[in-house]
Amino acid sequence: MLKGKDIVSIKDFSEKEIFEIFEVAKEMVQYAKGKGTDILKGKILATLFFEPSTRTRFSFETAMLRLGGGVLSFSDPKSTSLSKGETLADTIRMMDSYADVIVIRHSYEGAARLASKFADHPVINAGDGAGQHPTQTLLDLFTIHNNFGTLKNLKIGLLGDLKYGRTVHSLAIALSNFGSKLYLISPKSLEMPDHIMREIQEKQKPIVTNNIFDVIGELDVLYVTRIQKERFPDATEYMKIAGSYRVDLALLEKAKRELIIMHPLPRVDEIAPEVDNTPHAKYFEQAFNGVPIRMAILSMVLGVR
Ligand code: NCD
Repeated sequence: MLKGKDIVSIKDFSEKEIFEIFEVAKEMVQYAKGKGTDILKGKILATLFFEPSTRTRFSFETAMLRLGGGVLSFSDPKSTSLSKGETLADTIRMMDSYADVIVIRHSYEGAARLASKFADHPVINAGDGAGQHPTQTLLDLFTIHNNFGTLKNLKIGLLGDLKYGRTVHSLAIALSNFGSKLYLISPKSLEMPDHIMREIQEKQKPIVTNNIFDVIGELDVLYVTRIQKERFPDATEYMKIAGSYRVDLALLEKAKRELIIMHPLPRVDEIAPEVDNTPHAKYFEQAFNGVPIRMAILSMVLGVR
């Protein structure tokens, strides 16, 4: 059903498709944990990461290798012909002739959409600037669903850099469609951009606050993000708000027992390491879920599932 499809925005998926991906991902867990399979034998994934990445790139590559496929990638974009002045369009055209599926991360919003116009094979957006990060959202939703058995009627707080954070842009849109109540918690200067706000407000009126202490006791899920330092036009603006929020044991004293804490990672200082040993911490489980979810996506866009 996803065969041949590009995955550029979370809006590319219906609710039904999201649950179908979860079903395939559940079957993939056993292979993700090391058993492996060869359903994508002979297929090649190209990972084109023009911005830094650890989890997203390695979990896509792990997913492809566990499915029996092969991977083409570079670890430093300076080593490619882009540094000689080749356009992104030409690079994509070439990679499209070598690989069966392309995963791209780029600092320009809209880069993945552009790439999809130049490639016949499926293009998957692994983050386009401050735009979208749809596969992260799928693994985030999968993690929430695994913990609560539902995506409806939960109270979900998104804490941190809601302005530049692409993970929270995609996630907020998805969650508002599922009917969970959103709490948008950020420093004043990092509030959710208007165009995402408008999409959320078509479905609900989210709670907006600058103080996590005011709402922590109500939440089922607290999704924390780091301040996206690299997207600040001015370093002094970053310095003004660096370290302005932190999840620690003192904050969690006010939380519900069932609260789960998520984070797309990498974290800088916004979750104290002492939180890792509490039952609230789900961010490493969440990072693992990137593998079965991306195995599901790869096998589905390549038409073997
Ligand atoms: C995020 C990203 O790249 O948007 N990381 C990830 O994919 N897990 C979050 C971030 O960099 O803060």
